[in-house]
Amino acid sequence: MNNDNFENELQDNMIKNENDPLMEDDFEDQIGSNIDLDGNAFNKKYGINPRVKQKPELRDQKILLSVRHLKQFFFYGHGPKRAKLKAVSNISFDLYEGECLGIVGESGCGKTTTGRSIIRLYDITSGSIYYRGVRISAGSRWNRKEIKWTKIRCKEKCKSLKEQRSKDIASLDKNDPSYASALESINSNYNDEIKNIKNNASQIVYEQKEKIKQIKFDNAHISRKLLNEIQMIFQDPIDSLDPRMTVEDIIQEGLQIQKFKNKTENHQKVVEMLEKVGLVGEHATRYPHEFSGGQRQRIGIARSLIMNPKLLICDEPISALDVSIRAQIINLLNELKQELGLSIIFIAHDLSVVKYFCDRIVVMYYGKVVEMADSDELFKNPTHPYTKALLSAIPKPNPRTEKTRIRTIYNPAMHDYTTDKPELRELKPGHMVYCNKQELEEYKKQLKD
Ligand SMILES: Nc1ncnc2c1ncn2[C@@H]1O[C@H](COP(=O)(O)OP(=O)(O)O)[C@@H](O)[C@H]1O
Ligand SMILES: [Mg+2]
Repeated sequence: MNNDNFENELQDNMIKNENDPLMEDDFEDQIGSNIDLDGNAFNKKYGINPRVKQKPELRDQKILLSVRHLKQFFFYGHGPKRAKLKAVSNISFDLYEGECLGIVGESGCGKTTTGRSIIRLYDITSGSIYYRGVRISAGSRWNRKEIKWTKIRCKEKCKSLKEQRSKDIASLDKNDPSYASALESINSNYNDEIKNIKNNASQIVYEQKEKIKQIKFDNAHISRKLLNEIQMIFQDPIDSLDPRMTVEDIIQEGLQIQKFKNKTENHQKVVEMLEKVGLVGEHATRYPHEFSGGQRQRIGIARSLIMNPKLLICDEPISALDVSIRAQIINLLNELKQELGLSIIFIAHDLSVVKYFCDRIVVMYYGKVVEMADSDELFKNPTHPYTKALLSAIPKPNPRTEKTRIRTIYNPAMHDYTTDKPELRELKPGHMVYCNKQELEEYKKQLKD
C-alpha cells in the first residue's frame, strides 16, 4: 500500500469511527444477563451454552430474528492485489414473529448473500445475527480494525505530543532562573497526557480483544436445534436438488440429520409433506429431473418444511418459474404461513411480487438498505429514488395507463454526499430512508399521509 492510500484509509477510518453505528452494539455489555428462570428453561430446551451472548429483550419484544450491522465481504486474490467486494455492507433489520418481510433489489445487490449469512453458510465478516435473542453468528473484522486503528491513532497522537514538547522546551530561556522548574512542569504535563492516551488505548484494545474472544466462543457454540428452525428455499430449484437422489431421499435428508431413524415413520412424514405442498405420495420414488420447475420448487419447499421450521427464507422462489405457476407457489406459501405460523423472509428482485405477500419491505441497493417500511406505506410513499425506479418498472394492468407509464432510472451520482453524509434515517415512525440531513427535509415535505 503506498503512503497516500494509507493516509486516505486512515482518515476514512477516523471519520468512520466517530459515528459508526457499530459502536452502539459493540459497546453494550459483553454477555446478556440470562439468569432469569425463563432464560434457563429456554437454554435447556435448545441446548444453548449459557455463556453464549444473548439479548433476552428481543424475545420479550417478539423479535424472532435480528440482523445487526451485518457485513459480508468477499476477497479476491492475494497480497497487494487483493481486492474486496462488499456484497453486504452494514445492514440491520428485525423480523417479528409471524411476520413476512420482503427483501427487494436488483440482481447482485446482496439479497442471497444476506439469506445465506443468516443460515450460516458463510462466516460473516462483521456484525451479529440474533435468533430468538441468541447470537447465532458474529464477525470480528470491525473489532480487529478497531484495535489496529486505535494503536495507530495512539502512536500518532503520542508522536505529535512529543514534537510539541520538544518545541516547548526549545522555546524556554536557559538562563532564566526558573528554567529548571519550567522544564519539569512541561515534562510532567506532557508525560501525564501521553500516559492517559496510552491507558485509554490499551483499555479499548483490551475490550475489543474480549469481544473477539466472545465472538469466537459464540460461533463455536451454536445450538443445532435452534439453527434447524431456520430453513431456506433456494433460488434455483434445479441446482438445489441432487439429481442422483430420489425425492424421498432428498426430503428425508433433514430427518436423518436430526437423527430420526425410523424408516416407516420417516416415509409417512415424507408423504405427508408431499401432500401438504400439493404433490402426491407416489412422487417419492422419482428423481428431480422427472418434474417440472414448479413441482421441483414444491419439492424444495417440502424439504424445508420437514425440518419443522419457524423461519423460512425464500430466495426468489418464483423467479425461475413460468408466470402461470407463480401464483400457485405464492398461494401455497401463503397457506403454509397461515397453517404453520411461519415467519418468512421473501427475497425478490421486483416489487410487484412482494406487494401483496409481505407485511414489510426492505429495499436494497448495492449491499445497503436504502428504504424500509410497511408494504402499504412503501407503495403510498415511495421515497428513495431507487425505490421509485423499481416501482416505475412494474407494468400496469390497464393498457391506457400502461401506455403513459414513464420508466425512471436511478443514478446514484444524483446524490451529493461529500460533506453531509448519508445514513438510514427515520422519515416517519417505521419508515426508514437512506439519505443525508438535507435530503431528509426534502423527503419529509413530499410525504403524503
Ligand atoms: N461466494 C461468493 N464469492 C464471491 N463473491 C460472491 C459470492 N456470492 C456472491 N458474490 C458476489 O456478491 C454480490 C452479491 O451477490 P448476491 O447476494 O448473490 O446478489 P443477489 O442475490 O441480490 O442477486 C455479487 O456481486 C456476487 O458476485
Ligand atoms: Mg440471488
